Amino acid sequence: MDNKATFRVGSNIAFIKYWGVADPALNLPLNNSISMTLAAAHTTTTVRWDSEGRLNEDEFTIDDVRFTRERADRLVRHLNRLRRVAGVEIRAQVVSRNNFPMASGIASSASGFAALTVAGCAALGLQLNNTELSALARQGSGSASRSLFGGFVEWERGLDHRSSVARQLYPPDYWPLMDIVAVVSGAEKQVSSEGGHQIAATSPLLAGRLSSLDFALPDVRQALAERNLARLGPVLEQDALAMHAVMMTSTPSLLYWQPGTLEVLQAVRQWRTAGLPVYFTIDAGPNVHLICEARDAAAVQAKLQTLASVQSVIVSPPGPGPERLATHLF
Ligand code: PMV
Repeated sequence: MDNKATFRVGSNIAFIKYWGVADPALNLPLNNSISMTLAAAHTTTTVRWDSEGRLNEDEFTIDDVRFTRERADRLVRHLNRLRRVAGVEIRAQVVSRNNFPMASGIASSASGFAALTVAGCAALGLQLNNTELSALARQGSGSASRSLFGGFVEWERGLDHRSSVARQLYPPDYWPLMDIVAVVSGAEKQVSSEGGHQIAATSPLLAGRLSSLDFALPDVRQALAERNLARLGPVLEQDALAMHAVMMTSTPSLLYWQPGTLEVLQAVRQWRTAGLPVYFTIDAGPNVHLICEARDAAAVQAKLQTLASVQSVIVSPPGPGPERLATHLF
């Protein structure tokens, strides 16, 4: 058995968000979500399984930092799932590297858990297809299920472990959309999304958001079919705001926005009024993702540079699914 493998996997930005779990044990979501996999924001992970039995515990190094005890807990639990599938007890050595700052508002859990899943399974010699890998990745982090595919992706909420998986709607070259991330704060977030999903049901606004998806999901699918940003943009903006309204009104209340967040949101609306077709979405953090077509990306970047609260910018077109690399990280 070749017990070592390395994969590079793109993060993704959701147009219709995943927020709230129907089944915490299996990590089944309350709703379908739709995303774009990112070319310019990715995680590279090497997993080596210790078939000689030298390791007493799993070892994780992420961006040169050793993750131990509580910080490693979620990762160990994920490797346990892989061990269960393979029927082995051996430990693993994992080295992982993000090409974007972890606190940049780009979901490192999406690309990170997807990369851990594909590299871990390949190094165990498991022959799983991307749909089966998507189900496994979902249990580590819901949004990771979508990073198993390139381009434009829908995660079907499903009824059980096997049916709650993502699938590709369109390949990366289908539509040159851009995700331009405006980083307004590098601060680590106070509450992880894992904790947030579990309290979504305490918000009186959750039911309203979920019922709005009866229209929003078909609208996004249709906008993608038409490559129509004027149709896609208002829906993705509204769903980001609906998700944040749920976050803000849950118990405890989650307020991810910083003053810089609002500065960017207001500016985007002004630029749009002035004729620049750009829309915003926000994940579980303060930074803002601006969605526009590739031909407007330079203009959007130039505008962002005029805002005092924007510290840095990451620009990404749609990207591919997981790629196996011949060069390992160790
Ligand atoms: O995969 P998680 O548990 O990190 O949740 C992701 C949640 C959001 O990024 C806020 C929305 C999404 O669908 O990506």
